[in-house]
Amino acid sequence: MTKITIRQTEHIDEIALLDKVCFPDDLPEDFSTQMCWLATYQGEPVGFTAMRLEGHPAPSITRMGVLPEWRGFRLQRRLAAVCVKAATAHGFEAVYTYVSVYNTASLRSLIHAGFMPYACEQGWMQLGRWTKHKPIAERHAKFWPQF
Ligand SMILES: CC(C)(COP(=O)(O)OP(=O)(O)OC[C@H]1O[C@@H](n2cnc3c(N)ncnc32)[C@H](O)[C@@H]1OP(=O)(O)O)[C@@H](O)C(=O)NCCC(=O)NCCS
Repeated sequence: MTKITIRQTEHIDEIALLDKVCFPDDLPEDFSTQMCWLATYQGEPVGFTAMRLEGHPAPSITRMGVLPEWRGFRLQRRLAAVCVKAATAHGFEAVYTYVSVYNTASLRSLIHAGFMPYACEQGWMQLGRWTKHKPIAERHAKFWPQF
């Protein structure tokens, strides 16, 4: 697992191809306005993630995908951590994402990566993570409902 590397990429065509494999039933994402990362093993793509920086009070991770044959190695939590690091570097206080309530693997990965579920609407769990450690009282402050 340690041999998998994750790096930021501008090659959105490659990201779009991985997106099609990982999200065959979803409408394609517009990656041109997002930060994208590619995970590779010996130079070959194995997963990806994308995050939208603008348009929200906090950045939103729009996609995290691992190619089917590479699932089961807990790569998603590493992808989530990369997004959190980038959001922190850009000075954001929090990161947001959402996932189907039936997507156990993704929910578990996100919780392992420090995300907290804070709302659930029409089958979609919304989760957020502070970029810096906060005292408990602040962690549960009014921030989340603003999403
Ligand atoms: C979701 C996805 C990224 C997870 O890939 P991954 O990092 O390889 O995930 P893993 O298989 O290592 O599983 C992560 C966790 O979920 C658990 N898990 C996986 N499948 C599970 C299942 N069917 N039931 C219960 N738990 C499950 C694993 O045990 C692990 O938990 P643990 O670390 O506590 O042991 C991958 O399945 C994927 O690309 N799916 C399609 C796209 C998608 O749904 N993306 C997420 C929404 S943005």
